[in-house]
Amino acid sequence: MRFYLAPLEGITGYIYRNALEKYFPGADRYMTPFIVPDRNRALRTKELRDILPENNRVRDLVPQILTNDADRFHEAVQALGEYGYEEVNLNLGCPSGTVVSRRRGAGLLGFPEELDHFLDRIFSENQVRISVKTRLGMEKPEEAFRLMEIYNQYPLSELIIHPRTRQEYYRGAPHFEIFGELQKLAKMPVCYNGNLLTVRDYTSFCAHFPETEAVMLGRGVIANPALFRELSNDASGGQLPGKLTKEELRAFHDEVFFGYREVFGNDSNAVFRMKEMWTYLLHSFADPERQAKKIRKARTKEEYLLAVEGIFAACELQPDGPEFWNLPQK
Ligand SMILES: Cc1cc2nc3c(=O)[nH]c(=O)nc-3n(C[C@H](O)[C@H](O)[C@H](O)COP(=O)(O)O)c2cc1C
Repeated sequence: MRFYLAPLEGITGYIYRNALEKYFPGADRYMTPFIVPDRNRALRTKELRDILPENNRVRDLVPQILTNDADRFHEAVQALGEYGYEEVNLNLGCPSGTVVSRRRGAGLLGFPEELDHFLDRIFSENQVRISVKTRLGMEKPEEAFRLMEIYNQYPLSELIIHPRTRQEYYRGAPHFEIFGELQKLAKMPVCYNGNLLTVRDYTSFCAHFPETEAVMLGRGVIANPALFRELSNDASGGQLPGKLTKEELRAFHDEVFFGYREVFGNDSNAVFRMKEMWTYLLHSFADPERQAKKIRKARTKEEYLLAVEGIFAACELQPDGPEFWNLPQK
């Protein structure tokens, strides 16, 4: 099985990816959060910083592009090519209102002919490998079958399927049965993405879809950065190092926080960024609510670090993940 880290805009930038690779190696591939090329420039300063080879210490990084404009796509591919990138990923999954209303991300799935035309152009005009990250459709999961007919006409290097519709955002269970049908229909390699949050989820998924060769994990890894290692350990019958420890989690946390402070040159922005990560990371701790409040209230670096001390001192890690997940739905 190949493991990919999912892109999470606002969380999995290069500071995060490098720290994950240093403390918890195990992802075979990383994908950047989306880059949105516009008329003026293919890469904004922040996007350029995120893909610069000198900023990245992971083995395999694939930049992700969000656009429905073949010219902009081409310009982004050219700009990325100058930094050595030979593969890019097209985002056809983003459910956010402002993205969808512009027929980008999952929004393009609602216009299959336009999508077909766009794919026709990008596959004929670019020499790089192009993979696609898709949802099942805009409204109905069955839209996926028409979309698969379209994808099958092009030489996608891989199709990453998040089996939910745009309308579902991240709510409810993924449509596993439709994923299984698509997997059989696909002419290209397929990667599964969605709600593999714990070793238990992953084991059950593999039992149902044993032919799967790649999975992409997002929120489960942000909640438990040792998850890839735990999955490999499980597969090896417990021969490898396994569970997350507080010491390594603290070291990883500090690396991310100090990385943000350095890059932003501003402690309150760094604290703000860390709170996003804690939305997920809290799930690794037992009964974190009292301490979590202090993290949410922290404004300065001092308040923040005190709150972090507090949670590490007062709460034990939950080795098998939380009983309930309380994840943002949008
Ligand atoms: C805060 C947040 C930001 C995200 N940003 C991106 C993104 O930039 N590109 C993308 O393809 N998916 C993005 N996603 C979707 C994730 O990559 C992934 O598909 C989703 O979280 C489901 O996988 P999981 O259940 O393993 O987390 C984002 C999701 C969240 C929650």
